[in-house]
Amino acid sequence: MSEVRIVSLPGDGIGPEVTHAMQHVLEAVASRYGHELVVEEHAVGYTAYEATGTPLPDATLEAAVKGPAVFLGAVGDPRADALTGDKRPEAALLKLRSELGCFANLRPAKVDAPLAAMSALKEEIASGCDMVIVRELTGGLYYGKPRGNENGRAVNTLVYDASEVERVARVAFELAGRRRGHLMSVDKANVLEVSQLWRSVVSGLASEYPDVTLDHMLVDRAAMELVTYPAQFDVLLTENMFGDILSDEASAMCGSLGLLSSASVGGAVGLYEPVHGSAPDIAGRGIANPIGAIRSGALMLSYSFDLQAEAEAVERAVSQVLADGLRTADLVGPDKNKAVSTREFANAVAEAIA
Ligand code: IPM
Ligand code: MN
Repeated sequence: MSEVRIVSLPGDGIGPEVTHAMQHVLEAVASRYGHELVVEEHAVGYTAYEATGTPLPDATLEAAVKGPAVFLGAVGDPRADALTGDKRPEAALLKLRSELGCFANLRPAKVDAPLAAMSALKEEIASGCDMVIVRELTGGLYYGKPRGNENGRAVNTLVYDASEVERVARVAFELAGRRRGHLMSVDKANVLEVSQLWRSVVSGLASEYPDVTLDHMLVDRAAMELVTYPAQFDVLLTENMFGDILSDEASAMCGSLGLLSSASVGGAVGLYEPVHGSAPDIAGRGIANPIGAIRSGALMLSYSFDLQAEAEAVERAVSQVLADGLRTADLVGPDKNKAVSTREFANAVAEAIA
């Protein structure tokens, strides 16, 4: 019997609903496979700011760096709109990512066969698509200095060192080697010096990965090809901001932003988050799609605990529940009566595992 010890940061908006749905599924995994699930919950985001005056309290950060795995639901709240700098809920997430050193953010985007008709793309374009976006997560525009907003002039800075590019590129090459062997590096090398460095560092590694075919694509073109010919992509590698944008675009191909999961790796502690945000418009109504969170839980079992059979069981259970026809409100179209709640969906996944 092994211990699955996680630090859970439900956060804001729908964060708590999807986090508790994920935990319910992990409980089912633990009892089915004979593990003990130990959850230590802490506050983050606007919820933490309201309670303590900071969106990332010391107790939260201390627990997170101890790990071994951190799950985060979502951060963000319209009441935080007037806040700036490190009082913002998003600043807590950025600090957490960089303190944990998890520089490689893996965002799988696979079209589930039962949901292909829900894709924003034509079904024949979306069907069968299966890619992973590897987003650099602790550098680039999000972290560059100087930054500021004073006297009618605002600054953000895009900086990458060769070593930061190399380490995330290696994660992407290795992942491509375990998948279909194709890596598409996305940049803006026709304009940005940072992208020229990015491209030369990535190209310089290719000979070490003879089983992987490397190509490069400009980000504007990649945004277009993601919706016209997504089947060409296996692993996409890109810097922080481009990866943020392209992963939301990829979610439209899958049918809903609520479906996408992520694992942030590279540091001693892994960070797992659904790709969606706090969705304040639907928060507290029990209708959020928990699939992104549940799949992030599966990534956590796989990457932080090396529990591959357990992770696959979660994936299979989600697929089965979708095949059985259960849908949350984001996946039913106009007839919301056909939808099940967040909890009902999670219960069905847990039962499928049991
Ligand atoms: C994401 C989110 C975050 C990001 C926000 C909440 C800071 O959009 O994880 O994609 O931009 O990284
Ligand atoms: Mn985003």
